[in-house]
Amino acid sequence: MNNKEEFVYIIFYILVFLILVMVAIILFITKSRKKIFEKEIEKKDLEIKLQKDVLQATILSQETERNRIAQDLHDEISSKLIAISLNLHLLQSAKTKVDSKPEIIENIIQINQNTIENSRKIAHDLLPPVLEKFGLEAAIQELVLHYNNSKSVAIKFTNTIDFKLSSNEKQLQIFRILQELINNSIKHGKASQILINFKNSDQKYNCWYTDNGLGFDASDQNIKKGLGMRNIESRIDFLNGSYTISSQVNKGIQFQFNFDLV
Ligand SMILES: Nc1ncnc2c1ncn2[C@@H]1O[C@H](COP(=O)(O)OP(=O)(O)OP(=O)(O)O)[C@@H](O)[C@H]1O
Ligand SMILES: [Mg+2]
Repeated sequence: MNNKEEFVYIIFYILVFLILVMVAIILFITKSRKKIFEKEIEKKDLEIKLQKDVLQATILSQETERNRIAQDLHDEISSKLIAISLNLHLLQSAKTKVDSKPEIIENIIQINQNTIENSRKIAHDLLPPVLEKFGLEAAIQELVLHYNNSKSVAIKFTNTIDFKLSSNEKQLQIFRILQELINNSIKHGKASQILINFKNSDQKYNCWYTDNGLGFDASDQNIKKGLGMRNIESRIDFLNGSYTISSQVNKGIQFQFNFDLV
């Protein structure tokens, strides 16, 4: 083999080598692209599933809320109005003795008073008037006072956030989150102390919520999220926030969430 032939062979091998390297690179890129693509699809599927879960929880909680309102209206208002109507008919009836009329009138006044109070309570549950008039801080203070007066639990609330920067709708979501957290602390944790602390940090608004109750094993997969926790999740989602929860048996719970106000 002369020098020229040798040179051609070398060039040929280099070319074959380069082609092989290129094929390997192309295969590698295609494979990793496929992997990235698959991962993206997986992520999107997960997001869609999460959105579906949130939507389902929202629909379910709306239905529960509607059922509760329907039941309240039925038990507390309709039945009372029927009772008033019966008493009025009794008053009108020729068969009713005159001396029993003052008692019937007193009865009507009582039921009427009761109905007014109940309708105020139902409206209050739907949207606490203090929240609409004076904002979230005042509404939480009122809620805390209500629990503290009942002596079943002592709640300490501190805040450095100006909630008025935000819409009533967002303030109401935060209020509902706290209501559910407090309900859970009393119902499941039998807590005697609750701390609620709101403050700004790192451009975010934060809430730290802790109780001293029975807690639960947060790593236990058997403890299922009920409607309450799923509602909290969808409300935090609505507020563009995120949350962490930690708890151990007999060590209470520590719940933290952040949120956007505007
Ligand atoms: N503060 C707490 N202390 C102890 N356990 C808690 C506390 N908060 C939540 N848990 C546990 O987490 C579970 C899920 O709570 P979640 O509010 O989602 O459902 P629930 O209160 O059981 O029912 P729902 O709120 O739908 O009426 C509870 O059943 C309970 O085991
Ligand atoms: Mg609950």
